Amino acid sequence: MFITLEGPEGSGKSMQIRELADFIRQRGFEVFTTREPGGTFIGDQIREVIMRMDNTMMHPNTEILLFCAARAQIVTEVIRPNLDKGVVVISDRYGDSTLAYQGYGHGLDRIVLKEILKFATGGLTPDLTLLLDVDVDEGLNRKIKNGSEWNRLDAQKVEFHKRVRDGYLEMAKAEPDRWRLINASNDPQKVQHDIREVISAKLESVKL
Ligand SMILES: Nc1ncnc2c1ncn2[C@@H]1O[C@H](COP(=O)(O)OP(=O)(O)O)[C@@H](O)[C@H]1O
Ligand SMILES: [Mg+2]
Repeated sequence: MFITLEGPEGSGKSMQIRELADFIRQRGFEVFTTREPGGTFIGDQIREVIMRMDNTMMHPNTEILLFCAARAQIVTEVIRPNLDKGVVVISDRYGDSTLAYQGYGHGLDRIVLKEILKFATGGLTPDLTLLLDVDVDEGLNRKIKNGSEWNRLDAQKVEFHKRVRDGYLEMAKAEPDRWRLINASNDPQKVQHDIREVISAKLESVKL
């Protein structure tokens, strides 16, 4: 089973994933967690190029292809082989992030993006996607409060993140069988509780 965590910045994806993995392990499943971009030797090198602060010249198309290059690598090297062995794979972000950020956020053609994603992933889509939804200001404030990662946020940037959030909500509504909405503005314990409820229901449909 392939599970992905999606949602705007500061919604708690990275914080919640470990406890979620522990929970699924307690249920007797083998679990593998990963995060994007990166997760492989080659992917980590691509991640560095994407994240380098002085790469401000990077064209949005370049960025998309780099994300998708790292994703192609992790799908073939790690995700598919694990899924084939019956391992539950949980990814902190996946293809929907490209649609949310480059599509809804930067306004790039989502039909084209979907084709690129299909090529990069060989058509591998998650069985379940949790949308950790939080108000944009709240999410960004959490990040500012807890690190130096975010120090300059102009109005334009906030607007961008609002488009990303709305994009996520639209995608979740359009594909209700795959997406589950989690209210991530609650305290972390409540968020984990709600995630576990969704996962329990899903695991019941899987035979060990
Ligand atoms: N439900 C929550 N309530 C308050 N703070 C939270 C909550 N979830 C996460 N945080 C804090 O917000 C920051 C961002 O969380 P993180 O898990 O990195 O978000 P994401 O990976 O979705 O961007 C972290 O400092 C984390 O401790
Ligand atoms: Mg994170």
